[in-house]
Amino acid sequence: MANQRKLKLGAQLHGAGASWWDWRHPEAFSDGSINFEFYKQQAKQAEAGKFDFLFVADSVYITENSSPHYLNRFEPLTILSALAAVTDKIGVVGTLTVSYSEPFTVARQFASLDHISHGRAGWNIVTSWLEGSASNYSKEKHLDHDVRYRLAEEYLEVVKGLWDSWEDDAFVRNKETGEFFDKSKLHTLNHKGEFFSVKGPLNISRSKQGQPPILQAGTSEDGRNFAAKHADIVYAGHQSFEETQQYYKDLKKRAIAFGRLADDISIIPNIRPIIGRTREEAEHKYQTYANLVTIENALIALGRPFNDHDFSVYPLDEPFPDLGEHGANSQQGSSERIKRTAKEQNLTLRQAALLFSTPRGEFIGTPEQVADSIQKWFEEGAADGFIVGTGTTGALKDFVELVIPILQERGLFRTEYEHDTLRGHLGLQVPVNRYSKVSVTP
Ligand SMILES: Cc1cc2nc3c(=O)[nH]c(=O)nc-3n(C[C@H](O)[C@H](O)[C@H](O)COP(=O)(O)O)c2cc1C
Repeated sequence: MANQRKLKLGAQLHGAGASWWDWRHPEAFSDGSINFEFYKQQAKQAEAGKFDFLFVADSVYITENSSPHYLNRFEPLTILSALAAVTDKIGVVGTLTVSYSEPFTVARQFASLDHISHGRAGWNIVTSWLEGSASNYSKEKHLDHDVRYRLAEEYLEVVKGLWDSWEDDAFVRNKETGEFFDKSKLHTLNHKGEFFSVKGPLNISRSKQGQPPILQAGTSEDGRNFAAKHADIVYAGHQSFEETQQYYKDLKKRAIAFGRLADDISIIPNIRPIIGRTREEAEHKYQTYANLVTIENALIALGRPFNDHDFSVYPLDEPFPDLGEHGANSQQGSSERIKRTAKEQNLTLRQAALLFSTPRGEFIGTPEQVADSIQKWFEEGAADGFIVGTGTTGALKDFVELVIPILQERGLFRTEYEHDTLRGHLGLQVPVNRYSKVSVTP
């Protein structure tokens, strides 16, 4: 029987792979992060699978310890603009940091992507957690965690205000009368706040979806509140079902406290499925990935949420080191989770590094097993959908050809696109322009 509520699925495009070792996989495109043909092929594959959107992550600082994908990759809005031109339906979501950009520029960029894609753009707002980012933007110091979220609040208010500069029917373009636009439908923001002073108006109108949806991945207190207040879609980076279920419940509760409906916000955990035609084949594939990990790389990966902390200075086979406040100004939520798990499970540094490098999770198995886990998380209050990360071309193909048909048969996922905007796919209303009196449907 058809199920009313449908899964929301995003495909994360990760070029050479998410980790330090993926690129060495026999099937990996080791130049994938800078290979447009590869991105195009992956985007078309995801669209054939009827995914809601493509997602391109980002950061603005590297060191020689950064993972291969980070070292040499496309800027999100540039690659997404190119992908929008070779796809028709699938949403195009990119990360852009509020800590190292200006709201006027970013409002323009996303509005442009939204027009180029005919209403398929989405913005993953991040505040950036790598302190070194400051050194690439002529700043002496990376802003503190709480200040970054306060700034993000004001930033989003400005961007949304700018996006409404032009009412939807402002451009008359009457060649006979010479009236290009209706002056009464042009609005100047005149924003003055703690961080920004932006007059406006924006020099581009809204697209057919009104404004790009907002995505976010807050884990800390401030991050969760920001997500609960503003995000349409929230990425969850937790590993276990129980942990994700708690996060899910917490975020929905917070959204309600901010005057929203529980359904106004969708929580989509990050998964990396490994699919085999048999359980043994899936296990073999997992082992192939796990065998690529060296302890040196695992330590570097572990340091990431702690602002690239150097774990190589500690003894490997002794209890996980006491890191004090390390991580609090970086990926606060994730770094705290690692410290907590290491303590609770009494892990040595080596064990912790390997555990977090090669998480097994529930999404390894036959197509039916993976579909079962997806259904369980979806129906038992841990997820409204998933952001699917796949290391190799084959992994996305497996998911699209083997798992999606099962989800479709079970009535959990669309068989055809019913809309052509990202808001339409996600079941989100077109926000009415704050200055206009008429409402618009997706
Ligand atoms: C699926 C997923 C994707 C993310 N993408 C990015 C990204 O592209 N760029 C980035 O700087 N952070 C990214 N993050 C990290 C978050 O923005 C955030 O820093 C992290 O969840 C820690 O939360 P906190 O800021 O509340 O401590 C991502 C997190 C998840 C779970």
